[in-house]
Amino acid sequence: MTIYNFSAGPAVLPKAVLEKAQSELLDYKGSGMSVMELSHRSSWFEDIIKDAENLLRELMAIPDNYKVLFLQGGASLQFTMVPLNLAQGKKALYVSTGSWAKKAISAAKALDNVEVEVIAACENDNFNYIPELPKEVDPSAAYVHITTNNTIEGTAFQTIPDYGDVPIVADMSSNILANDYKVEDFGVIYAGAQKNIGPAGLTVVIIREDLIGDAKIAAPMLDYKIQADNNSLYNTPPTFAIYMAKLVFEWVKEQGGVAGITKKDQEKAGRLYDAIDNSDMFQSPVAKDARSITNIPFVTGDADLDKKFNAEALAAGFENLKGHRSVGGMRASLYNAFPAEGVEALVDFMAKFEQENGGK
Ligand SMILES: Cc1ncc(COP(=O)(O)O)c(C=O)c1O
Repeated sequence: MTIYNFSAGPAVLPKAVLEKAQSELLDYKGSGMSVMELSHRSSWFEDIIKDAENLLRELMAIPDNYKVLFLQGGASLQFTMVPLNLAQGKKALYVSTGSWAKKAISAAKALDNVEVEVIAACENDNFNYIPELPKEVDPSAAYVHITTNNTIEGTAFQTIPDYGDVPIVADMSSNILANDYKVEDFGVIYAGAQKNIGPAGLTVVIIREDLIGDAKIAAPMLDYKIQADNNSLYNTPPTFAIYMAKLVFEWVKEQGGVAGITKKDQEKAGRLYDAIDNSDMFQSPVAKDARSITNIPFVTGDADLDKKFNAEALAAGFENLKGHRSVGGMRASLYNAFPAEGVEALVDFMAKFEQENGGK
């Protein structure tokens, strides 16, 4: 049976990447060692991390005045590192568009000398749309934090706000490399790797150099300046995850870069949204103008029927389709590596299920 993995993360990886890793697993480039066994100070690993950075720079057209950091601690640690480094003694502005945004807000609020203000929110409507943002914000604020794609709720920012000198900080965990964003529109971009970049354990941070600053940070590991000055090698980085990210970046390049991938992602998502919109049984709980192309929740409106669908889908090889526990229903995460055939198979399965369960 073919298994299609709709997980929101850790998520499906390109098969070609897994095969390449397998072929190099025991002997990396004649070294007689696995990448997992290489010193992070070896020239082999130095090449891997440099290649990974250069590929990401090329894919995202990252300008020279931005640093690329390969860190650990997940996107969740960035919820703390961002305000700790950028907003001490200042005001930090947040847009609350989902569960992860709320966690980012709580982490910033936990810091003593950061003043947190939520400038727009949509929790009253279960976060099912992207709220309108104020035209202007306090020019003395350290940043405006947004979550470009809300993994759990299935919404995404379609345009990136511009507040002049107040930089936009983005949690891009679930749509990095899936949208043709311009890095210049952001001061900081961060993402946990385990959706569109590689295995869990790696966090990518792209930060404009002038924002690195020299705030006094008691914990060196949490200090962007120390991490940047040491080219992400202040301590032992997640070497194997960085190697896998490099292979994924090579794969993205082969797919026509971010533009090529985005087109395919849009087609995959469009196919599923069409099936949902044309069905009498399934609905999308998300406002049409806020739909994510990477995380697509859908429901029948009947919790028992959702449960039945999930059980039958799982038995048919559709893994991890069950919606997040806070939303219920179903959620298809269609990241870059998710194959178009998997979407076709799901759409066929949905039509069959609808027919068999009293639908059209
Ligand atoms: C948008 C978003 N932010 C943050 C996180 C948390 O990431 P991590 O588990 O890497 O800390 C996730 C994880 O799914 C996410 O989807």
